[in-house]
Amino acid sequence: MCGIVGYVGRSTVSSDGTTATHGALDVVMEGLRRLEYRGYDSAGVAVLTPNGIESRKKSGKLSNLVAELEARPLTASLTGIGHTRWATHGAPNDTNAHPHLADNGRLAVIHNGIIENFAELKAVLLEQGETFLSETDTEVAAALLGRIYQELSAAGDPDPLTHAMRKASQQLEGAFTLLAVHQDSPGIVVAARRNSPLVVGLGDGENFLGSDVSGFIDFTRRAVELGQDQVVTITPDDVVITDFFGAPAEGKEFHVDWDAAAAEKGGYPSFMEKEINDQPDAVAQTLLGRSDAQGKLILDELRIDETILRSVDKIVVLACGTSAYAGQVAKYAIEHWCRIPTEVELSHEFRYRDPIVNEKTLVVAISQSGETMDTLMAVRYAREQGAKVVAICNTNGSTIPRESDAVLYTHAGPEIAVASTKAFLAQITAAYLLGLYLAQLRGNKFGDEIADVMADLADMPAKIQSILDNADKVKKLARDMSNAKSVLFLGRHVGFPVAMEGALKLKELAYIHAEGFAAGELKHGPIALIEDGQPVVVVVPSPNGRDSLHAKVVSNIQEIRARGAVTIVIAEEGDTSVEAYAEHVFYVPKTPTLLAPLLTTVPLQIFACELASAKGYDVDQPRNLAKSVTVE
Ligand code: F6R
Repeated sequence: MCGIVGYVGRSTVSSDGTTATHGALDVVMEGLRRLEYRGYDSAGVAVLTPNGIESRKKSGKLSNLVAELEARPLTASLTGIGHTRWATHGAPNDTNAHPHLADNGRLAVIHNGIIENFAELKAVLLEQGETFLSETDTEVAAALLGRIYQELSAAGDPDPLTHAMRKASQQLEGAFTLLAVHQDSPGIVVAARRNSPLVVGLGDGENFLGSDVSGFIDFTRRAVELGQDQVVTITPDDVVITDFFGAPAEGKEFHVDWDAAAAEKGGYPSFMEKEINDQPDAVAQTLLGRSDAQGKLILDELRIDETILRSVDKIVVLACGTSAYAGQVAKYAIEHWCRIPTEVELSHEFRYRDPIVNEKTLVVAISQSGETMDTLMAVRYAREQGAKVVAICNTNGSTIPRESDAVLYTHAGPEIAVASTKAFLAQITAAYLLGLYLAQLRGNKFGDEIADVMADLADMPAKIQSILDNADKVKKLARDMSNAKSVLFLGRHVGFPVAMEGALKLKELAYIHAEGFAAGELKHGPIALIEDGQPVVVVVPSPNGRDSLHAKVVSNIQEIRARGAVTIVIAEEGDTSVEAYAEHVFYVPKTPTLLAPLLTTVPLQIFACELASAKGYDVDQPRNLAKSVTVE
């Protein structure tokens, strides 16, 4: 939610004249291009020039800002900040776009988050004579910072920007990452963070700030994680981190292990298509190095005392959206393998209902971004109650893993398309690993059984690839259905979360009404929706799986077909029994029931992506959404 970039470089005088590190505008625009997935309601930049601050901002996608910069270029600069917005306060227009200026245009500020006490602060600032152009909370923070800067500077403070940022941050409530540059503090960008993401990039004679490492991945792989409630000042040669009161703090340096090419489309028309096609690799990478040759799980990163893990009497999986559906798949697997009661709860519901969580609870927080505020708050709450938290996360250096007791990273690589695909499959894979590890540790499952599942998991990348290689039929159906007004999805057992994920993908990419139901629930209400021509996608369990489940879902298909539904069936190869009742059948390779979501999800992703593309929609940046929901 909102992408933020900051840069400061320097000029050096060499024997053949003056050379500089990168130009600020180039770095900032490149960072914004990579961070645009975090919000695309508007974009803006500000650079420090010898003539003062110059700023441009435009509503709409980044391309509008690019056009504006072509029409009205900025003076070359070595210090700059940039922002891509997901609107919270105020409509997505030019005025509400960031940066916001204060201190008579001498200070420029960008912000991600929500400042909860902005109305109170604004009232005080108005009384003091401030005027505001926008409806944003950011402009209030800028005005506050500007006032404090003036006071400190008048009192002779040698670094008024850093000190003003600390003081202003003490007064702000809510979630914020703020970046500021001031015309009278050249060569410095100052930032503050509370409950909102920010990482530092370390360069040579230049330093960077970004909402995540994609903000500077083209320029450096050395990054520094920041803690909560910290202020960081970057200059070309230095990075100084303190808390809001000036006490020195240390960031944790890490190496970014994916390169810039991984965050490019690689010849695909969209990130979404690339990421769907990345899935065999995402699953393979997530499995890599986590078991030995005998199939024994080795999860060194799970640094929670084994005696604690053995004494766990309940697991609570916390997540939102697609990640919560991964959690629902995990529940079936973990309960089956470990015999530990497992609940899955949407993070935003969890802490408001007085949940029963204690030292014997293991919380599994699933988040692709590692920044989802709802999940972060739920993690904090669970830890306060004494629970241990394991994060399953795809983003190194993000907040949720940092605040958890342990983390199991999914190695899906950067997921840029706003709607999640490859992270989902990687999350399910990581959850299987966790479940098997707990089963191994607690003696619920023994060597051979675990090795068998690991062998089945090792086959999954090739099976996913075969679905991708034979996707033409799904794509054709998607194009033929581009005028559909509503599509229903049915599934049972692990097929139920897959059905809900299929419906979510279609909603968010193609803006079509879609709902996922448990097939068994049909007769308790949803069947009333079935009328002539209603498309219904049914995820059919393996005929070799649990007793009679397959037969029951096949009966459901007959029931809806009898009422006029057009049935689209995802079934296991060789399951010809469904053909008599289905208008369209898509087969996936045979696989044990618990692992089937890694396969049955894929045609549904392709279907949604193709249908949305046929309607001419931007599948990477669906309307109203943003990657990484950093507000509650
Ligand atoms: C849907 C989607 C979202 C996210 C959700 C949680 O395609 O991407 O539903 O899954 O916002 O995000 P993370 O996993 O980053 O916590």
